[in-house]
Amino acid sequence: MTQSDRRQFLSGAAGAGLAARAMAQASASQKKLRVGLIGAGGRGTYLGKTIQQFTEQGEPVELVSVCDIYQPRLERAEVAFKVKGYARAADMLKDPNLDAVIIATPDRQHVFNTMEAIRADKDVYCEKPVTHWAQFDRLKELVHENRKLKRVVQVGTQYVSDTVWERAGEQIRQGAIGKVVHAQSCYFRRGDSGEAGMPIDDPNAKPGVGVDWETAQADAPRREFTVSRLFQWRLYMDYSGGPLTDTYPHMLTPVVKMLDAGFPKKVVATGGRFYYGGLRDVPDTMDLLIQYPQGMDIAFLGSFVNYVGIETLVRGSEGTARKSDLAITLEPMKGVNKPRQELPSDTQTRGEGHSNLAIAHIKDFLNCMRTRGTPRGDLELAYRVQVPLIMAMQSHLHNKVALFDADSETIQLV
Ligand SMILES: NC(=O)c1ccc[n+]([C@@H]2O[C@H](COP(=O)([O-])OP(=O)(O)OC[C@H]3O[C@@H](n4cnc5c(N)ncnc54)[C@H](O)[C@@H]3O)[C@@H](O)[C@H]2O)c1
Repeated sequence: MTQSDRRQFLSGAAGAGLAARAMAQASASQKKLRVGLIGAGGRGTYLGKTIQQFTEQGEPVELVSVCDIYQPRLERAEVAFKVKGYARAADMLKDPNLDAVIIATPDRQHVFNTMEAIRADKDVYCEKPVTHWAQFDRLKELVHENRKLKRVVQVGTQYVSDTVWERAGEQIRQGAIGKVVHAQSCYFRRGDSGEAGMPIDDPNAKPGVGVDWETAQADAPRREFTVSRLFQWRLYMDYSGGPLTDTYPHMLTPVVKMLDAGFPKKVVATGGRFYYGGLRDVPDTMDLLIQYPQGMDIAFLGSFVNYVGIETLVRGSEGTARKSDLAITLEPMKGVNKPRQELPSDTQTRGEGHSNLAIAHIKDFLNCMRTRGTPRGDLELAYRVQVPLIMAMQSHLHNKVALFDADSETIQLV
């Protein structure tokens, strides 16, 4: 073979390789993805409906099964979605044609549901928070397991699917505001309807009669059954954690992503149940300070008692990044010769925009299932967000400072 023959042969082979890859990608993008739903409560119903809307719009995705440990909800979901129902996720996961599951169970179940699903070779869209605050060791185990299994795992922090955070992060890394030393963000809202207002489907519900109370408790301390503990689980530290773990992942995730923040060095937190009473034992207010080893603090504040928030912003040695509903603006400080940049948001983050973000987030997951790419709210990012939140809860509960050792991935209270 002459050199030119060989070049022609090689470029032909490379061309054939490229064509084969393009065909494989095209057929992967056309493959109908079959999705199951675990947890058919408020959020699960919304997510299941969203998948069915995608199907109606002609997207190659289909909801094929549903699972719930509360029989009346399972039966309702089977009828509403017209799909096969399972009382146990393990049975649903045996379906070899199932590609992925959406997990919308209470917080304490997430890590078990996700581990079981990835071990059954399914991709996972898991609602936030990725684990309950008392499950640090299990979280670590899950992350390490998925580093081996490489399933696509998206955590349901949909705010991160506004690409403005990535675009601002890129500019910040290129020095648009100098060295970042400080950031602040928040999650404030008014009302306890998300906890005390959770509906009690049946005030006479009893364990064993369509209620799998044993599974519902996961690894929580064993308690006597009450309908409130089953249906209003967000009121209780055993199954939830108040704003810190319920809503803070929403805003902390994009901030951590934008700043490319790794694991924290130190976290302190303070807060409590300052206003709401009744059966609630989770805090309604929580403030935390997170310090990173490169010399940067994030202050995160929030409460469910009053909706007046603080601005999300990042302070650098040469300028400031400010987040509004519409954009992230990078502003140089006085005397700094750098351009002011306004990076528009993909969608507004309130009202209509909120559900637009959820739709973008689910689509990002489905797309990554096809490309085997990394979704915007992937498990590694969720780990970097959940570690400071778990440390904050421990700091608050024990009145101590929480330190993190990134080499051994351990938390120490001092
Ligand atoms: N991303 C968001 O904006 C958003 C919004 C709302 C809720 N969420 C998250 O969604 C999750 C569910 O919240 P919700 O308000 O829908 O709660 P919910 O109580 O309405 O629904 C949870 C359902 O899971 C079922 N369940 C419990 N353990 C199960 C198990 N092991 N297997 C199968 N089913 C099980 C329950 O019976 C219940 O029907 C929470 O983690 C919450 O943080 C996220």
